[in-house]
Amino acid sequence: MQIIKTVAAMNGYIREAIQSGKCIGYVPTMGYLHDGHLSLIKEARKNNDIVVVSIFVNPTQFGPNEDLDSYPRDLDRDAALCEVEGADVIFHPTPEEMYPNGYSTYVETFGEITKKLCGASREGHFRGVTTVLTKLFNIVRPRNAYFGQKDAQQVAVVEKMVRELNYDIHIVPCPIVREKDGLAMSSRNSYLQGHEREDALVLSQSLELAKQMIADGERSTAVIKQAMCDKINSVESTEIDYVEIVDAQELENVETLSGDTLIALAVKVGKPRLIDNVRLEVK
Ligand code: PAF
Repeated sequence: MQIIKTVAAMNGYIREAIQSGKCIGYVPTMGYLHDGHLSLIKEARKNNDIVVVSIFVNPTQFGPNEDLDSYPRDLDRDAALCEVEGADVIFHPTPEEMYPNGYSTYVETFGEITKKLCGASREGHFRGVTTVLTKLFNIVRPRNAYFGQKDAQQVAVVEKMVRELNYDIHIVPCPIVREKDGLAMSSRNSYLQGHEREDALVLSQSLELAKQMIADGERSTAVIKQAMCDKINSVESTEIDYVEIVDAQELENVETLSGDTLIALAVKVGKPRLIDNVRLEVK
């Protein structure tokens, strides 16, 4: 497995791979890999000749008061994990390589899809994501790109961007990977201290509660959201950013549940802000 740090070296590697007819599978990450990322690499390994993993903590998707500087990083550990999963290349550029002095080109998907949920409290976040992914897609030129469904809004935004910019890339959303007790895997779980790890279980538990209410016949989003918020608020260390029930394609609000539905939440547990969701077909 190679670790490539420059765009020029990556261009050379990818050009040769495409000329020899190889199908490239791509897993974009910000590193500090966990089993969720590894499930994406495993999936990519099944269906492609070459698997590229990028590890790049993208500054343009962090707001001024967010955790860019403290975001966990451990390239040696990540490289060892990628090697075990059979990745062929890690692309690990520096911020200067991706955004040289004077950089001024951005790609943005407008509308409700980027304004609500995480977009409401993280201004500019999705502009950073779509900008870096445009650059990374142009560099890696994948046939298939793998994303975790934990970032459901990111998946919806990327799918829309790929569709609207006519990228010939198949976006493959992969299921959320959870700890045994239900906590969705996230690099940010490493920020949880002491009892916050236990407290964080209320995220997946409130989603379970919503699922149960729907199974029991409840269809009012207001009633379900209220029950979820009550459950989350019963844990002292939590602060709700949002609890939303929306249609899973365009992320538009729904009052009465039906069809392809996304129940998504973002909650601070102590300092860390965690997200989780469930997507389900409501009959
Ligand atoms: O999901 C992430 O880790 C990031 O948003 C991504 C897709 C790697 C872009 O920086």
